[in-house]
Amino acid sequence: MAAEQPIPVYTNLSDLYGSLGTSLNHAEKWNSVAEEFQRRFGRTPAYIARAPGRVNLIGEHIDYCLFGVLPAAIERDILIAIGRRPNALAEDAPGSVVAENMQKKYTRQVFAPAPRRRASVSEDEIRLEEWQLDINTKELRWESYVKAGYYGVLINYFSGGGNPAPVDILVTGTVPAGSGLSSSAAMVVGSTLAFLAINGKLDGNFTGNGPKISKSQLVEMAVANEKRVGVNSGGMDQAASVISVPSSALYISFFPELSASAVPLPPGAVFIIANSLVVSDKAVTAKRNYNLRVVETLVAARVLARHLELKVGNTERITLREVVGRLAGEVEEVGEMPVEWLLETLKRMEREIEHLKPPNSDISSEAQLGVTMEEMIAMSGLTAEEFQDVYLSWVEVEATHFQLYKRAKHVFSEASRVLQYRRVCLAAESSPSSSPMDVLKELGQLMDESQTSCNELFECSCPELNQLTQISKDAGAIGSRLTGAGWGGCTVSLVAEDNVDSFIEKVSATYGPYKGLQGEALDEVIFATKPSSGACVYKFD
Ligand code: GLA
Repeated sequence: MAAEQPIPVYTNLSDLYGSLGTSLNHAEKWNSVAEEFQRRFGRTPAYIARAPGRVNLIGEHIDYCLFGVLPAAIERDILIAIGRRPNALAEDAPGSVVAENMQKKYTRQVFAPAPRRRASVSEDEIRLEEWQLDINTKELRWESYVKAGYYGVLINYFSGGGNPAPVDILVTGTVPAGSGLSSSAAMVVGSTLAFLAINGKLDGNFTGNGPKISKSQLVEMAVANEKRVGVNSGGMDQAASVISVPSSALYISFFPELSASAVPLPPGAVFIIANSLVVSDKAVTAKRNYNLRVVETLVAARVLARHLELKVGNTERITLREVVGRLAGEVEEVGEMPVEWLLETLKRMEREIEHLKPPNSDISSEAQLGVTMEEMIAMSGLTAEEFQDVYLSWVEVEATHFQLYKRAKHVFSEASRVLQYRRVCLAAESSPSSSPMDVLKELGQLMDESQTSCNELFECSCPELNQLTQISKDAGAIGSRLTGAGWGGCTVSLVAEDNVDSFIEKVSATYGPYKGLQGEALDEVIFATKPSSGACVYKFD
């Protein structure tokens, strides 16, 4: 399976460019970062790590509920050139980093991790257990993502002793920040890879001398690393950035464990990304948006499990996917249950969610569907202390009403849409005789339904995204939806190959913030994308 393969390390540039499977001129970008590294630091880098952004075709906000999603890596990526600092000055702290970015607005940062020593075992035996690396989670800072990747390498590989190398790094990237294309995951994956490579840890498991690190191990590390920036995201972005393959989308499933398989996209389908130009940083708004949704879906899972009389430990944070599995009698050791069975159970869940509505209330409007903290605790069947411990002690959230019903309704229906989307793509491949336009229409409809659900039930859209998807539909998109966390960022539209130019022209002429943009400036905000390959490393001689 794709997830178990090792991270590709190239030593030959034509193999590297051939592997990317994209139409962009990668050579220019790779050369320029290597040359710039040479200019700034006086030597060639030892490695360049590449991690792409991703577009999610369908399956929004369901990865942390452990339901499968369908993203693809995009051609836009982050490159991190890294080199050991030679003749490190005596006063250089172990593992110190000089981090520069080719974008001028991101200024040079110098930092070093501090070993945190704690008495363990006995008074005289002081063991190095952890490293301290301050990460600012209150504001969007570019180096936070570099540090997040580095921190994971420190605690996984240097906690038992040994010193990380002092390094210089140079970062460049074409994934716009805060746009829903996973620039943050690409930065964290790229940084994790770069620090693994320079410290000689790519060839080995956590003990440093086992088999090569697999893609799924890198995903796991990158997910844990990104949580340090303050967002409890699922694993979609990191998995897409690491495991994707050219020309296909990737069905990523998280239950019973991470697995991924390529899903061929039907011929004639072009995916166009359009940036609403509303910047949404999920780390900054986490307590009212992203992290709140994570908590709402988790509590919804417990309330449903209780209502369905499923066995759940008091301290367990059961997810909606696990509720579905337990209800269906799925045996985890055997793997994920067959799709038809999963779809059936999801249908049943769409009826069961009635039990998430507020108790004893006369519901006449959607606004009244939320429950208060007290109601939510009572519905969970836990004591206030237990509830606090399990659901609130690890995360900060802010709300007067918690929308358990609406969130669960979105999650179950979106999970079904992902399975249907995948089924349509697989069927189109195995019976190419079906009308290509009918196939695209089926996919488009699922994308439109997803947008409505994200907007009305999950409330992760915004007026500009709604407007942009509508304009896209009017301009000929077969389906259009927000992609990524939402609350701003990009849309993805499915457009028939023949219509691409006229689509882009119409959207550019209609969406207010695009007026006056031309040439490169316009290509930056609205562009067709092709699925690209996942993360890799280039090693210099
Ligand atoms: C962000 C997160 C992902 C996922 C999406 C929403 O991109 O990082 O894990 O939850 O939002 O689908």
